[in-house]
Amino acid sequence: MLYHIVAVANHRVIGNGNKLPWHFSKDLQHFKVTTLGQTVIMGLKTFESLGCKALPGRVNLILDRSGQKPYPGQTFFASLDEALKSVKTEHAFIIGGAELYRTTIDRVDAIYLTRIHADYVGDVLYPEIPPFFTEKKRLPLQENPTLEVIYYESTKNKGCCCCG
Ligand SMILES: NC(=O)c1ccc[n+]([C@@H]2O[C@H](COP(=O)([O-])OP(=O)(O)OC[C@H]3O[C@@H](n4cnc5c(N)ncnc54)[C@H](OP(=O)(O)O)[C@@H]3O)[C@@H](O)[C@H]2O)c1
Repeated sequence: MLYHIVAVANHRVIGNGNKLPWHFSKDLQHFKVTTLGQTVIMGLKTFESLGCKALPGRVNLILDRSGQKPYPGQTFFASLDEALKSVKTEHAFIIGGAELYRTTIDRVDAIYLTRIHADYVGDVLYPEIPPFFTEKKRLPLQENPTLEVIYYESTKNKGCCCCG
């Protein structure tokens, strides 16, 4: 399955100055446990915001249309389709950033969204969640500020027995 995994504050803020405007260890733990052993796919700016280092214990794929492959030893693709062809794990997680979330939200099967109930200044936003996503689960992570993981599933690509 293909997922988004994202942390979103009030007004859909997800980043500022190419950084996360917060640090919540419970959310980092949730991110790690959910993605370990799987493939993570990210935009070049997100890779740079992670210190230009691959996340350990996961297959890291980086998207960049320039074709320059600026970081030797990392795996680059010019499109999501190209990246998806190389996925060998059961699950693949799109881990940001804003551009990648915006251009892929209609393609993912599900979203792990950590909702941070607090205000942060931000220059990049998560897109509006389209109506074909249904909330399936909610898991509290912490209080003050309140963080909860909301799991949404897409109904878009689910066929039915009658329509083949
Ligand atoms: N809150 C969260 O959970 C979270 C998670 C991750 C990142 N973030 C934040 O998001 C911000 C970065 O997001 P951003 O939108 O500026 O950058 P981004 O999406 O991380 O990266 C943009 C880069 O990726 C390439 N790219 C994007 N979509 C592509 C596609 N479909 N095919 C091929 N290449 C593609 C672009 O290539 P071209 O320029 O060549 O077109 C561009 O170089 C930072 O502030 C970061 O902290 C937040």
